[in-house]
Amino acid sequence: RTCAVVLAGGTGQRVGLAIPKQLLKIAGKSILEHTLCVFENAPDVDDVIVLMTADYTAEAEKIVAKAGLTKVTKVLAGGATRSETTSIAIRAVTESLGEGEDCNVLFHDAVRPLLSQRVVSECVGALERHQAVDVAIPSSDTIIVTRTHGDDGEFITEVPDRSRLRRGQTPQGFWLSTIRRAYELALADPAFEATDDCSVVIRYLPDVPVHVVLGDEYNMKVTQPVDVFIADKLFQLASHTAPAQSGENAYREGLEGRTLLVFGG
Ligand code: CTP
Repeated sequence: RTCAVVLAGGTGQRVGLAIPKQLLKIAGKSILEHTLCVFENAPDVDDVIVLMTADYTAEAEKIVAKAGLTKVTKVLAGGATRSETTSIAIRAVTESLGEGEDCNVLFHDAVRPLLSQRVVSECVGALERHQAVDVAIPSSDTIIVTRTHGDDGEFITEVPDRSRLRRGQTPQGFWLSTIRRAYELALADPAFEATDDCSVVIRYLPDVPVHVVLGDEYNMKVTQPVDVFIADKLFQLASHTAPAQSGENAYREGLEGRTLLVFGG
């Protein structure tokens, strides 16, 4: 059994609107609804739980009811940090199971609404053999490591080999028992701090290998104001070509359409 956990507990400070960014409408639907629809339509996902910003759980429930999303079993309030939200979700999924039962969990950022079905099914497939799975894409940019030198500003300390660097996306998938064990150890550590869940496994369960599934460029995270416009454009492209199937294919077709425009084919 696979449960998708949609992490929507943030407030979107960097986008800086009066409402959490996951409630923003893009291409006719809220970002949260787009994301929930991906899991609703995923044959490998059995149920979905939503962790919503504390003051907005009623909005999330309304979205679920209005869209008739049958796989959503719970809408809960998230925590003050992303990892607090994850631990609330781990508890909720554990409570929904029988004694000693295990399942797969996929943690996904609500603000990545362009997730493709290919990535979801490859994650679930990988969990047949691996206890922890990440999704990542190669980095087009050179990544540099810096250090601040007093008032002089930042200086480069390292330029890691780009061919081995990846940009992490979500979902991140785990056997529930594995991520629960990692979080038990993390919560006992006063120095614990994390912005994703695979790093919790790497830090606290170093013997568990984390398998990497190839993500896609489309699966962007709406983080900065400009991302709202980019996501809007990408949805336009997707609905223009293949409505129910956002992701790489629609993007490809859109690009090919453009070469026709440029070269007059
Ligand atoms: N998230 C969460 N609970 C939190 C914080 C974040 O569930 N306490 C979720 C967000 O809703 C988002 C995902 O984690 O779907 C990725 O986080 P991020 O993009 O950093 O979202 P925000 O925390 O909302 O953004 P900001 O840091 O700009 O405030």
